[in-house]
This record gives sequence, C-alpha cells and structure tokens, in this order.
Amino acid sequence: MSAAGHQRGSFSSNWGFLLAAIGSAIGLGNIWRFSYMTYTNGGGAFLIPYVVALFSAGIPLLILEYGLGHREQASAPLAFAKVNRRTEWLGWWMPLFVMFGIMFYYQVVIGWCANFLIFSFNLAWGPDTQDFFLNTFLGVTKSPAELGGIRPAILIATGLMWLITWFITYQEVHRGIERACRIFMPVLVVTTLILVGWGLTLPGAGDGLSYYLKPEWGKLLDPKVWIAAYGQIFFTLSISFGIMIAYASYLPRKTDLVRNAWITSLTNCIYSFLAGFAVFAVVGYLAGVKGVPVDQVIKSGPTLAFVVFPEAISRLPFLREVFGIFFFSALVIAGLTSGVSIVEALTCSAIDKFRWPRKWVVTGLCVLGFMGSIIFTTGGGLYWLDIVDHFLNQYGLVMAGLLECLFVGYILKAGVLRKHINESTQRKMNQGWDFMIKYLTPSILLIMLVRSVTTELAKGYGGYSTASLLSVGGSWLLATLAAAVILSLYPWEPSRLRSDHVPGSDELFR
Ligand code: PHE
Repeated sequence: MSAAGHQRGSFSSNWGFLLAAIGSAIGLGNIWRFSYMTYTNGGGAFLIPYVVALFSAGIPLLILEYGLGHREQASAPLAFAKVNRRTEWLGWWMPLFVMFGIMFYYQVVIGWCANFLIFSFNLAWGPDTQDFFLNTFLGVTKSPAELGGIRPAILIATGLMWLITWFITYQEVHRGIERACRIFMPVLVVTTLILVGWGLTLPGAGDGLSYYLKPEWGKLLDPKVWIAAYGQIFFTLSISFGIMIAYASYLPRKTDLVRNAWITSLTNCIYSFLAGFAVFAVVGYLAGVKGVPVDQVIKSGPTLAFVVFPEAISRLPFLREVFGIFFFSALVIAGLTSGVSIVEALTCSAIDKFRWPRKWVVTGLCVLGFMGSIIFTTGGGLYWLDIVDHFLNQYGLVMAGLLECLFVGYILKAGVLRKHINESTQRKMNQGWDFMIKYLTPSILLIMLVRSVTTELAKGYGGYSTASLLSVGGSWLLATLAAAVILSLYPWEPSRLRSDHVPGSDELFR
C-alpha cells in the first residue's frame, strides 16, 4: 500500500517478475536488430564493444532502474519526482519517446513478422526475396518524403498486434503480462533452441559462424561500432525506457535487486548470442549455396531477417516451411512480450499521477499507438523506421541514460540508492557502483553522444538529407520532450510524493 492507501499492482512472485523483465528485454532487438547490427558492424568485432557496453553501462544502469523503482515504489515520473520535483520530466520523457516513437514502428515490424509467418506456409516470397520484401510487400518509395499509400496487409497485422497488446495490458500486471510471459517465454526458448540446433547442422554453417565469432580487430578502431554497441545494449535491455523502473515498483520490499539485474541482463545477452548462432549459420549456408563470401550476402541491415532468411529458408534441404514458421513465430512472440512492457510503463505512470482507471489508459494508449503506427505501414515507412530508430536509439536512449546517472548519482546520491539496494541483496555492492554511476558510465555516454553528433554533422546518416533527418528524428525527440515537461508541470496530490520507504531515510537527501 502506498501512502495514500492506493493499491499498486504486483507480480505474484520474483520468478514472475523475472519472466516479465526478461520478456521485455528479449524482443525483436535480440534477433532482428542484434543480428543485423552484428552483421553490419563487422561480425565478431561487434561482440567486444557489446560486452564492454554491457558491463560499463548496461548492468550498472539496470541496477539503478530496479533500485529506483523499488525504493520509491513508483513508475518513472513519480520516482524522479520523488528524487526532485525538477527531475520529473525525465521520468515522462523516457516512456513517452519510446511509446510514441520506438513502439510505433516496433509494432509494425512485429506485423511484418506476422505476415511472414503466414507466408512461410507456402514460401510465398518466391525466388527473388529482396524484390518480394521491398517491392511486393513493403512497396518502398524513393524517399521518406514520398509515402506512397498504406499497405493493407501490414496495416491489418499491425492492428492485430496492437489488439493483442491491449488485451494483455488491459488486465492487472499479474494476470495480464505475467501470465502471458509465463506462457510465451518457455515457448520462445524452445523454439529458439530448435532453430539453433537446426541451423548448426546446415552445410556452410561453419563459415557463417566463423564470421560471427572471429573478431575483425580493425573494426574496433571505428567509433561507429562502439556507438552502435552502446545503442544496442540500451535497446536490448530496455534501459532508459522507464520500463524497468515501473516493473521493479511492483516487487515486494524484500527482493534481491542486484541478482535480478544480473539474471535479466545475462539471460538477455546470452539469448542474443545464441540466436546469433541460428542467424549466422543460416547466413553461412546461404553464402555457400550462392557461392559468395559471407560478408556479401546482404548489404542493408534491417532487411536481414526478411530477405536473407526467406531466401535461405526456401533453399533448405527439408521441412522448409516449418523452419520459417518457427523463426517468424519466435520473432512475433519475442516482440509482443516487449511491446506490452512499454504500454505498462506509461500506463503505470499515468495511473500514478492522474489516478485514471487502467482500462481507460491502456485503451487510449493502444488506440493512439495504432494511429501513430500507420505512417510506418506506408511505402515510405521503411525510411521513417530507419531514421526514427537511429535518432531515438543513438540520441534518445543514450541521453536519457546519461541524465539518469546524473540525477540519481548527484541529486538522490548514488550511495543512498546503493544503501537501499543492498538492504535485501546477498552480495552487497560497494562504492565501485557509485563510481560507475557518477563518473564512468556518464563519461562514456557523453563521449558517445559527442562522437555521434560530430560524425552525423560531418557525414550524415544513411544517405538521408540533413533536413529530413532533423525534421523527422530531431522533432520526434523535441515533441516528446515538450510533452514530458508539460506533464511534469501538472501538480501532484501531495500524498503521492510522500515516501513509503524505510522511515527516516528520506530526510537525509531532500
Ligand atoms: N528490449 C526490447 C528489444 O530488444 C526493446 C523494446 C522494449 C522495444 C519495449 C519496444 C518496447 O526488442
């Protein structure tokens, strides 16, 4: 019970929490995004910055988010409002730009996967999978300015994904999300293991794997690879989304948060690593069949799962349809359990602040979300996806992570949060964590940001005009920022800002 006697939802057990948190973390990011990020950033070379990013930013920040949500028993806006009224906007901005940005296109990509799941039944993509995906399916136009009409099959599938998301989040967290993850996560793991095992038996798989596992050291000198790795870690762990803060607020007082953070992040990254085996085995197989080197199987990143995979599936020696059905079901399941988590994060925020009924908030968010997704279902959608994804990940998530470190590190004080986290943690954290949150992680993130901005100004991104980048990507960040500030200016019921945690401890820092 909170100070005002308002009953918060809760997970039925720590295990339920872990499944939901891992469900949020493991998503399209682990299969679709991880594999093309690894592929386009030099294969194995990418894994080194990825692991460095995991330990230098991912895990410390995940512990921070779990700690903050748990200590304040609050969603991100309320948690930051309790840190200091003037930091509340950050708590809104994170779930807002994810929900009204990343989530718009994320649901569309799950919609693509659902379509491809159906195409798998008769390998409907035909022999030229690139032409099928880009022209027949997406109807890609020449530039982002040209939308070229809505693609009905994508629109319908996207609508269906929003409907399922609505259905799951409409119910209280232990009945909706927790139950869905209890069913979906084991199915996902089994499906993935089958795909990996199957992939490894394909001829040529070894070439794909050696590309995947053998680092190209030269790539490590390229700052772009490092920036992409940090962006990927934020995305894949759902950090700076406000999700993990909200989820941790549903945990009982006595919970080993550090252990939970390790379990969540390692399971997530091991899953990605494993899924990489399936992907690269298949890429290696295809390279062999086509007689081209592995790094030339495909040029453009986001299409890896939808061009290379279908082609490889069509060329499998046996049970081709089944492989396709497994692969695309895994993507749909992984995507849905992530999608629900951001709707939950924003719902929890709105309930905390405005006390609106959950069912109304969820319905409103899903309707708005669906409307926002529409632009990504058009012929110009792929460009928009690429630009928005680039901006929100490279800048939005990293900037939000940096601010989280500073606000918690210096205003709440890292040591104070650490004390709370250590209360029910078996292996206590020492001041090393404070050092990371106050100095190390923010410095790395700052360097990343500065490098991103300078390369972007010098070279642009993906061949788009600077005007289209700034108008689409930049205004996305600014519009959500403005909304976040407005929401944070709205006053709280005073009782809500009162702290429920260990009596006496709050006077120390406010
Ligand atoms: N962690 C998720 C993934 O890797 C990212 C995500 C979470 C995206 C929630 C949207 C909503 O796919």
